[in-house]
Amino acid sequence: MTYVLTKTASNMDLAGEFVPQMSGLHTLQRVRRLRQRYVTEAVLHDRLADLPRQLTQPTLRPWGAIAWGDVSPDQLIGIDRATFCATLLGTINTEAPIRGYTQSSRQYLEQLYPAMARFVGGRVDESGNLVEIGLWEREEKRHTPALAKLYTMLSGEKPNIVPHAARPYQPADDPHENLYRHGLHRVATEYGAACLYIWMMAHSTGALQAVLAELLIDEINHMTKFWGFGLWAYPDSSLLKIGQTLGQAMVQKLSDRTTQGSLPHTLRRMMHELAWQQWSPTQRLALLYTFDQVIKALWAWNRTLTPANLDALLGESHATASAN
Ligand SMILES: [Fe+2]
Ligand SMILES: [Fe+2]
Repeated sequence: MTYVLTKTASNMDLAGEFVPQMSGLHTLQRVRRLRQRYVTEAVLHDRLADLPRQLTQPTLRPWGAIAWGDVSPDQLIGIDRATFCATLLGTINTEAPIRGYTQSSRQYLEQLYPAMARFVGGRVDESGNLVEIGLWEREEKRHTPALAKLYTMLSGEKPNIVPHAARPYQPADDPHENLYRHGLHRVATEYGAACLYIWMMAHSTGALQAVLAELLIDEINHMTKFWGFGLWAYPDSSLLKIGQTLGQAMVQKLSDRTTQGSLPHTLRRMMHELAWQQWSPTQRLALLYTFDQVIKALWAWNRTLTPANLDALLGESHATASAN
């Protein structure tokens, strides 16, 4: 760990120091501490280096022991219970239905990158029945039940889960380009989830925060693997290309309601779903600050990834061949 526990253990947690009456500045400091703890260059390198092994021998990352019985509403800090629970409910509805998400991703990847398709969505037989569940799905499917349990413990009620329909796979003339758009969307949603869990951890402590940490570690793991894989498969991708693709997604959304690349729609829906309208200005600022902190760490790491070391890790990229 990069910081030293100089205070008594009772007012320190995974996000550093906390005080019951947190100021806006305190919240931002907690976000920064969480970023420094969970999204370091060493962590990102390690999570990407783990990908080849997971492609051949998928192994579920075990969660640490969680003291579920200790979760209680007095572990919320700088946020009231109703607002936190509204956000939690939105998160539950955004995490589900993971089966739909993994199966559409599998279809986008299947012909171009079968090993990665298996990692995200498992395998199907000739009749299209799922015969093996992908590692991404196995790890993600723990999230909804954990969040639902937290919701029940904090609110005293069972969450009313209303999952979205996952956007189905849309074939296109250029599968390589189609996968690029889809992959960007997936990286963006893993990044959004990671940032949201950092924000939730900044507003919580104790066992509640420890549960959220497990979800955060999963999201960072997936985000990093998808990002690194994307950079390997699309070595010609640049900030400009990403910007163009996202821009296209915005324009397409206006003219074509069936497009799979409707990122602004997803973001708007997510903010509404997460009860953003109930958040205080400080809480909103803390999320924007989280987005900024995490993207800066990702770009710094991204600069260290060269096509040569990605090829050394994942084999020679056949992006050019598959584009023809
Ligand atoms: Fe998740
Ligand atoms: Fe995720």
